[in-house]
Amino acid sequence: MTHRWLDEVEALAREALPSAVFRYVAEGARDEISLGEATPAWDAVRLAPRVLRDVRTIDTGTTLMGTDYAVPIGIAPMTLQRAADPGGEVTMAVAAERAGVPMVLSSNAGSTFAEVAATGAHWWLQVYVAAERRETVPMLEAAAAAGAKAVVLTADTPVLGTRYPMAGGPGIWEVADAGWIGANAATPTGLDPADRGKAMDLGPADIGWLADTTGLPVVVKGVLRPDDAHQCVAAGAAAVWVSNHGGRQLDQVVATAQCVEAVRSAVGESAEVYVDGGIRSGLHALIALALGADAVFVGRPLFHALAADGGAGVHRALEEYSRELVEALRLAGCARPQDARGIVAPAGEPGRDQP
Ligand code: GLV
Repeated sequence: MTHRWLDEVEALAREALPSAVFRYVAEGARDEISLGEATPAWDAVRLAPRVLRDVRTIDTGTTLMGTDYAVPIGIAPMTLQRAADPGGEVTMAVAAERAGVPMVLSSNAGSTFAEVAATGAHWWLQVYVAAERRETVPMLEAAAAAGAKAVVLTADTPVLGTRYPMAGGPGIWEVADAGWIGANAATPTGLDPADRGKAMDLGPADIGWLADTTGLPVVVKGVLRPDDAHQCVAAGAAAVWVSNHGGRQLDQVVATAQCVEAVRSAVGESAEVYVDGGIRSGLHALIALALGADAVFVGRPLFHALAADGGAGVHRALEEYSRELVEALRLAGCARPQDARGIVAPAGEPGRDQP
């Protein structure tokens, strides 16, 4: 079997990280049913590849919201990166810049916007909107001023879903260092993000409000339903991000692999579609493109790579994803990511989307 570093990073990270941090990144909500179903759902999809196509040159270049990237693979927002590497988000951003991929910066990052921007990476800000909207404005304005390319509204977190911490060990917020998080908070907050007053009344109007406040394209993350996707785009979203928050919010929600196709159909070409959740290979990325995604985002494996070997680790992991995607595109008869749209085949119906 071919050696894949991506198959080793989780074990390496487990060794390198404080156990409460490893557990926090690993955990899912409640019984972790959605967490466990994410990757098998990608594994379950079958492709109907094309033949007799010129695949001498595979160009993975992708334009997302007007910015060019080297591959349709990005870094999902994750807090606590400074627990994995001293440079934290800055190290991650250097690797993102080197690989030519977008990095979504957690609103609970331990590195400042200026530090991340100085790497030259293209970065987007993930936000939770506060119940008191004006409390979110300073962070939004600071991110826009520092060069964020988009705002990613987390829409699936009116409250944090219940997760069961490691049995017998300390909880993450008992061991977290204040320097790991909160670097861009306008006002000091408690360590535990559950303490913060997130809006429970988010609505379509918040999309326009975010766009007006920042002057940036707005991505709505956490969309699983076609009707919601349609509503987001009608309200001005530039993209919808199919996500179940890494299985960390409502348990027993549908796997994202099962939502992409319907979400794409709902929004047509009027917005971009991204997806995350259990994407563990370049082949999974191809499957997401085939189902209608413009780009995929990867979380835990890149956190693990950061913990295992810093920026070199993240670069190596991203390279592995890219290499696998190039091979998968070539074998599927696709010279470019957009050629992959529709090459899915439910059992018994190969090539149903072929012209
Ligand atoms: C926060 O967004 C988390 O999933 O822990």
